[in-house]
Amino acid sequence: MAANPYQPELATVEEIIEETPDTRTFRAVFRDPELRESFTYEPGQFQEVSVFGVGEATFCLTSTPTRPGVVEFSVKQVGQVTTALHEMSPGDVVGIRGPFGNWFPYEEWKGKKLLFIGGGIGMAPLRSLLNFCLDNRADYGPIDLIYGARSPQDLCFRNEFDAWRSAPDSRVFLTVDRGDETWQGNVGFVPAYLMDLAPSPENTIAITCGPPIMIKYVLESLEKLHFQPEQIYTTLEMKMKCGIGKCGRCNIGEKFVCIDGPVFSYAQLKELPPEF
Ligand SMILES: Cc1cc2nc3c(=O)[nH]c(=O)nc-3n(C[C@H](O)[C@H](O)[C@H](O)COP(=O)(O)OP(=O)(O)OC[C@H]3O[C@@H](n4cnc5c(N)ncnc54)[C@H](O)[C@@H]3O)c2cc1C
Ligand code: FES
Repeated sequence: MAANPYQPELATVEEIIEETPDTRTFRAVFRDPELRESFTYEPGQFQEVSVFGVGEATFCLTSTPTRPGVVEFSVKQVGQVTTALHEMSPGDVVGIRGPFGNWFPYEEWKGKKLLFIGGGIGMAPLRSLLNFCLDNRADYGPIDLIYGARSPQDLCFRNEFDAWRSAPDSRVFLTVDRGDETWQGNVGFVPAYLMDLAPSPENTIAITCGPPIMIKYVLESLEKLHFQPEQIYTTLEMKMKCGIGKCGRCNIGEKFVCIDGPVFSYAQLKELPPEF
């Protein structure tokens, strides 16, 4: 992180990958060669990205620290900053502050089965952790991913599905709300598909991220499958401004999502007021 956490570091956008009609992944490299070499972060952390003259917005790091030299963030177009980012081309410059926040406690999960459950753009933080675990494959048990989106065109990271599927002891289960003539996977909502697949909670950690309504029903489904709250992790997307616990924009009760989170276990969430 920069000495001054308010000061963005300049990064050049090298590549922009069109994931879905409204989501693009940006691959950026820091202009300072020393920072490019030394920058590191953990799966689950986020950064503040600025478009000069427009504003700043929060995005999780979707790249993984085992693949250094670049930072990647995936952006769903919803408003001012995200639209300005979508209008950018390779060679344009952004500001980056971070990394901020806590991260997935992957050290504690060694030897366990991992069940990733993602929805839409919620796959962005999961991708960072998934690629990290696949790059440290021997540390973990079987890895399953259940990932869903509204339609086949709304699935992000499609160019990585084959690599995820062909990794040792790993499976990918895809589902969409509405299929099309080319779709051969499951049709249905993620929580319902999760119930159909009925994974065992034994020695398993479930990690979920997606639209709030999906997370709500995934948590209910996991409980029905007898997962304990301590076995379930998610990452919250409360609105943020400073990213460093100073502005009070992101608090839930006494917790600041930007420094106490964004990663929480379900056991921790149950202790918080229901504001998220
Ligand atoms: C920890 C964290 C990680 C995030 N990771 C990602 C990511 O990987 N990819 C991604 O596309 N988005 C992510 N977001 C959400 C992203 O920060 C917002 O979509 C972005 O700030 C919108 O900026 P804007 O200027 O384009 O929208 P604005 O012009 O500010 O607002 C447009 C609309 O979006 C709503 N909005 C703005 N900010 C948020 C927010 N944080 N959460 C929910 N609604 C919001 C507004 O209420 C409004 O309806 C993350 C947010 C947090 C806090
Ligand atoms: S974003 Fe400012 S306190 Fe969390």
